[in-house]
Amino acid sequence: MEEQKRSQFSGKIGFVLAAAGSAVGLGNIWRFPYLAAKYGGGSFLLVYIIFVLTIGFTIMITELAIGRKSRLGPTKAYGALDSKWNFVGIIGAIVAFIIFPYYCVIGGWIIKYAWVFISGAGAAAATDTYFTEFAAQPVETVVLQMIFVIATGIIVAFGVQKGIEKVSKIMMPILIVLSIIIAIFVCMQPGAMDGVKYFLLPSLQNFSFQGCLGALGQMFYSLSLAMGIMIAYGSYLPQQESLESSVAQIEIFDTVIALLAGFMIIPAVFVYSGGDPAALGKGVGLMFINLPKVFNTMQFGSIIGALFFVMVLFAALTSTISLLEATVSSACDSFKWSRKKAVIILCVVSIIIGIPSALSFGVLADFQIFGMDFFSFCDFISNSVLMPIGALLTCVFVGYILDTQIIIDEIEGGELHNHPFKRKKIYVVLLKYIAPIAILAILVSSILEGMGVIAF
Ligand code: PFF
Repeated sequence: MEEQKRSQFSGKIGFVLAAAGSAVGLGNIWRFPYLAAKYGGGSFLLVYIIFVLTIGFTIMITELAIGRKSRLGPTKAYGALDSKWNFVGIIGAIVAFIIFPYYCVIGGWIIKYAWVFISGAGAAAATDTYFTEFAAQPVETVVLQMIFVIATGIIVAFGVQKGIEKVSKIMMPILIVLSIIIAIFVCMQPGAMDGVKYFLLPSLQNFSFQGCLGALGQMFYSLSLAMGIMIAYGSYLPQQESLESSVAQIEIFDTVIALLAGFMIIPAVFVYSGGDPAALGKGVGLMFINLPKVFNTMQFGSIIGALFFVMVLFAALTSTISLLEATVSSACDSFKWSRKKAVIILCVVSIIIGIPSALSFGVLADFQIFGMDFFSFCDFISNSVLMPIGALLTCVFVGYILDTQIIIDEIEGGELHNHPFKRKKIYVVLLKYIAPIAILAILVSSILEGMGVIAF
């Protein structure tokens, strides 16, 4: 089962930084603060952290163990354990392959904004129409998306240690330092403390069942679960390293960056809007319309804006690296392609699939699938439909079909047997009962939401 020359991370630090690089991304920076502000600040944070430590822990350690046990990418890993269940890993790889092109479209926008702020033209980006006019331009957005795909491809082509690990070891420490600097600077602005309070203090009146589902969905997206990524990265993890403590470190990293993003974004928007949480906006509007306005009014705003977009660029790049790696490792294992061949073919296809996504904000805005533009449709089908289906099937497979002890043995270190699994009992309960019910709830609610039956 084990391939002779499979690459490995050089050790735990490289692995944890690469996996945290995957986890820390746009989800932490624009989605987490928005959801926390919407669903009751401290109450949302508490529920989110509980989900990370329970269901998130369970799914992440299971995926890493499947990857390390099989030493195969997602499209082959499940099949190595039970050939009838191979399709579950294929779903994961498909999710990664759908997300990668449109995530690179946003990556392209970030390159643009980082450049605008670095070149000192940040004030131009603070006008109401700047973003919509820019995103509607066909040539610039497609070229920037291509640049982002190619940059990701070059790093992945260098391989696990010389590419992914090396870049993560440089970018992740810079990212954390920049996040701390920006968060401290923003929190020192006059009036910022009201935003901090809004972010941290629980507000039961804004909290709801929908808030819980929002926290759960966010947790899956933020930790890059059910997308084949943790299987691919687990397959490169040296046998002597502890899965349990690696998962804890990845989760701490991801949650700390999400919290720091909350400390930058919520107080910044509060100061700018005079305390109106509605000014936070959502997703694209928050990052590309509201924040440039905030930076424009702040002292040293152009420097902070430049640092912010460089930080976001690193966060997005380490995430796209993992998305591409999930599909590259699959293509290498399933079709026996060399790494370089897999990178070239998958990047070319991704650039082509990314074009309609890049054009969804301009010339193709009226091209609708189930009432969604192409970009939103890719997001919906991958995150709201396939991702929960893959996660649910993983729980069913490992909890009921496979002998769960096989995965527990891997968590305990396989033949080395060097890592007692401290949370074994609770893991089994979460895997078999709690996680599947929670995932089913996300699946139903996100499909209803996507179809416009309910609104979140
Ligand atoms: N986890 C990343 C984030 O929070 O933005 C994004 C991401 C990376 C999503 C990889 C999906 C993925 F497969």
